[in-house]
Amino acid sequence: MRKNIVAGNWKMNTTVPEGLELAKEVNAAVAAATPKCDVIICVPFTHLVPVAQAIDTNKLGLGAENCADHAKGAYTGEVSASMVASTGAGYVILGHSERRQYYGETSETLREKVALALQNNLKPIFCIGEVLEERENGTYNDVVRKQVEEGLFNLSAEEFGNIVLAYEPVWAIGTGKTATAEQAEDMHAFIRSVIAEKYGKEVADNTSILYGGSCKPSNAAELFAKPDVDGGLIGGASLKCEDFMGIVSAF
Ligand code: PGA
Repeated sequence: MRKNIVAGNWKMNTTVPEGLELAKEVNAAVAAATPKCDVIICVPFTHLVPVAQAIDTNKLGLGAENCADHAKGAYTGEVSASMVASTGAGYVILGHSERRQYYGETSETLREKVALALQNNLKPIFCIGEVLEERENGTYNDVVRKQVEEGLFNLSAEEFGNIVLAYEPVWAIGTGKTATAEQAEDMHAFIRSVIAEKYGKEVADNTSILYGGSCKPSNAAELFAKPDVDGGLIGGASLKCEDFMGIVSAF
C-alpha cells in the first residue's frame, strides 16, 4: 500500500539556529500527535547534521533539497548524494521547479541525480509540474508525462518503488493560488495511469503522489480527500510549526 506523506520544503530559509529550533518544535509536535501519515522535513544542506542529531528520524523523516549529479570529485560547491546520506537523511527533493527554472536542471541531469540518490539509499521526492502558460494552452498533461518519462522511466520497477512523486503546478507555488482539488485529482490520476502503462497497476497503485503549491491548513483536507492525492509537499507553510502540523492533521 502506498503511504500518505506530508513533507516540508524549507527552501533557502532559516539560519542554522532558527532551523534547529523549528525542527525541534516539529519533532515534539509529531511525537505528541501520532500523525496518520509519514512526516518529513527537507532542509538546507547546512542544517542536515544538527537537525539529524536533534530529531527522532524514525518518527520525523529528514531530507535534503537537492544533491549533485556526480558521485564525488572536483565539483566545487556541490554536495553529493553520499554526503547527504551520511548525515542521517533519508530523502532528497529532486527536480523542483525552482531548480529546473533557475539552475537549468534538465531531465538528463535529473536522471543522474536520481540514480545517485538511489545508490545511496535516499528516497527521491521527484517534482514535476507545468507552468501557467502550459496550463492555459492545455498542454499540461503532455508536459508532465514528458517530465515523468524522461526523468524516471529508465528505472527498473524495483528502483521506481523508491520514488515519491510531487505534482507541483508552477503557477501555484508560493503564489497563494492553489490548484482546485479536482485539478489536482485529475492530474494525479493521469500520472498514475502513465506509471501503470510503464510499470503496471501494482507499482502505480503503490506510488505516493504528493500535491504541492500553496497547500495550507485551510485547503489540505479537501486536497488529501481525493483518492489519488497522497499528501503534500509544503513550502511556505512548512516554516511555521503550527501551520505545518495543521496540514499533517488534515489526514
Ligand atoms: P509553497 O511551495 O507551498 O510555498 O507554494 C511548495 C513547493 O515549492 O514545494
